[in-house]
Amino acid sequence: MNSTKRDLLLLCVGAAAIVGLTGCKQKGGGGDAGEIVIGEVAAMTGNTATFGTSSHAGTQMAVDEVNAAGGLLGKKLRLVMEDDQSKPGEAGIVAKKLISREKVIAMLGEVASGKSLEMGPICQKAGVPMISPASTNPKVTEVGDHIFRICFIDPFQGTVMAKFAMSRGWKKVAILTDTKQDYSVGLSQFFKEYFAKNGGTITGEQSYGSGDKDFKAQLTAIKGGSPDAIFASGYYNETGLIAAQARELGINAPLLGGDGWDSPSLVQVAGKAIEGSFFSNHFSNEDTSPHIQEFVKRFKAKHGNVPDAMAALGYDSAMILADAIKRAGTTEGKALRDAIAATKDYQAITGKITLDEKRNANKSAVILTIKDGKFSYVETLAP
Ligand code: PHE
Repeated sequence: MNSTKRDLLLLCVGAAAIVGLTGCKQKGGGGDAGEIVIGEVAAMTGNTATFGTSSHAGTQMAVDEVNAAGGLLGKKLRLVMEDDQSKPGEAGIVAKKLISREKVIAMLGEVASGKSLEMGPICQKAGVPMISPASTNPKVTEVGDHIFRICFIDPFQGTVMAKFAMSRGWKKVAILTDTKQDYSVGLSQFFKEYFAKNGGTITGEQSYGSGDKDFKAQLTAIKGGSPDAIFASGYYNETGLIAAQARELGINAPLLGGDGWDSPSLVQVAGKAIEGSFFSNHFSNEDTSPHIQEFVKRFKAKHGNVPDAMAALGYDSAMILADAIKRAGTTEGKALRDAIAATKDYQAITGKITLDEKRNANKSAVILTIKDGKFSYVETLAP
């Protein structure tokens, strides 16, 4: 310990003794001297509630494991999670609260790109590094040099699904987009770019907004174009209804989608209508790699269910932050930012993670299909 640090410590101990405090605030970090406070913003309720429920379960599990192994820099981690209720505007409000009241040293979240885009500028301005576990829209990390993600981005995901459609011989595809979600708008655009450039035909483009329940008009228009498949780039709730209504209208073409389908609710809402459709994702809990099966087992023991992609990504986001804190040797904003940026070949659950100069990760995607009500592994596509 250098003399400045020792002096500071003595000062704190002295102050605590005088006013009866239990700890002292550290520069650049919230909480008392014995803890490191990490913020998390998650949708625990509302339209994308399974995203937050899963990612938080994974994030909390990582924090608990780090603490069980002795914590970091001689301190315990404390995760403070705020529910943004899947409500527009709320992610920014709770992020501000975590920074000003809890003095979090870093922020984890959100899953949905639109939410990460709300909280990103707030973290950037405050100099608090933010790691999104799962937001795939390119704009998320363009907000600034303190904003990271540990997942692939949608130009890749859109290409993966376009290539997959072509590999199945589906040359005519209709597109259905949720225009209230940056994620869906981007994913549709990237799918279309690759598909159209490589000889595919887009038979029609339709849109809706999150929360809509009736898609019959759009689906009727889509049916007129007789597509081989329908690319439905939205989240699970609406996609479930879209699948059910498509079948009611006599459309038998498979649906294709992205990671936003990953929720147990998809099958609950769609029932049999979603069987035989396909989506891309970050992770398959059927993957037989020992580190994945070991994680699935630990997660199941703790939470009673198998982890989905967000659970694995939530876990990875917290572990990558922990690794950076360890390497930085401090929780001070700039040094911690630099350590996160230097993440290289980190063996995470969802793959090996190296953060590039744009603060994104380059990782493989898996394609899953829905079979007997379950998500079943089809193939892996490398970047
Ligand atoms: N990629 C989605 C988005 O950016 C979020 C998501 C990730 C959803 C992983 C499910 C699984 O909005």
